[in-house]
Amino acid sequence: MRVHVTRPIPRAGLELLEQAGLSYTVPEAEGLPDRSELLRAVAGCTGILSLLTERMDAEAMEAAGPALRVISNHAVGHDNVDVKEATRRGILVTNTPGVLTETTADFTWALMLALARRVAEGDRLVREGKFEAWGPLMLLGTDLAGSTLGVVGSGRIGWAVARRAAGFKMRVLLYSPSRRLENPEEFGLLRSAQWVELDELFQRADFVSLHPPSTPATHHLVDERRLSLMKPTAFLINTSRGCVVDEQALIRALQAGRLAGAALDVYEHEPHVPQELLELPNVLLAPHIASASQATRSKMASLAARNLIDALEGRPPEHMVNPEVWRG
Ligand code: GLV
Repeated sequence: MRVHVTRPIPRAGLELLEQAGLSYTVPEAEGLPDRSELLRAVAGCTGILSLLTERMDAEAMEAAGPALRVISNHAVGHDNVDVKEATRRGILVTNTPGVLTETTADFTWALMLALARRVAEGDRLVREGKFEAWGPLMLLGTDLAGSTLGVVGSGRIGWAVARRAAGFKMRVLLYSPSRRLENPEEFGLLRSAQWVELDELFQRADFVSLHPPSTPATHHLVDERRLSLMKPTAFLINTSRGCVVDEQALIRALQAGRLAGAALDVYEHEPHVPQELLELPNVLLAPHIASASQATRSKMASLAARNLIDALEGRPPEHMVNPEVWRG
């Protein structure tokens, strides 16, 4: 049984593969693997430990061949994997939810605070040698206290983002089609929290933070019309997936001053970042690092390895995306 790990991952994950006695291949270079090399490397594998940067589609599954039993994605999002195709072929897909919840929520707040208080603009000003004196009108931002946070998606991460709002004295509006929380008893912790419809959330929130899964139903959930519902003083934060936002519509809205700013960790055609976004001063841009803490990335690697080992050793992995193919 051979496993291919599509890019170097934290040591903790590789150690688990070694302890399980699995032989694996992993490229030495940290960058994106060349597609043809990747297709060659997966040939004959029983398992692939994939990163979110690798498309695991019919072509990759075909290249792996009939021995392939599991694709273990080192991410909670699995839009890089054609789950339908995997299911059709009886290949189990697993992911890594839970371990990155607090880290991703922290980063969402880092973006929100930095955007509201213009931290990146201040940093640029200082580095450019333009800090001449304290100024009563210099880089005035927006207060969080007393404002309203709208959280789209009430899964683990959305809720962890919402929960932090209590400490900042913000009101919280929540949207999810199911109006369900993982731990419903926690709802009471946020005395101000209220379930609302999506359009109402966009109309009322001062900060809109996006946390839905990436599915056909959430593709361009934030489109021209929804953006037009936002207050011109409101901010948009996206740490979910780029395709949840119509990026061109967002650019037009920002250019026209129809919202106050945006902070993005993800992009529609990642890693491409449109030039227009690079040129807007009220946009904060991050390179998809919301889950990037030392501890969390180790946990993600370990969980992805455990999911893969469990699947190959006949134990049900903790996080199956298509459990219907599990036969044990
Ligand atoms: C990161 O973006 C993830 O989905 O885990």
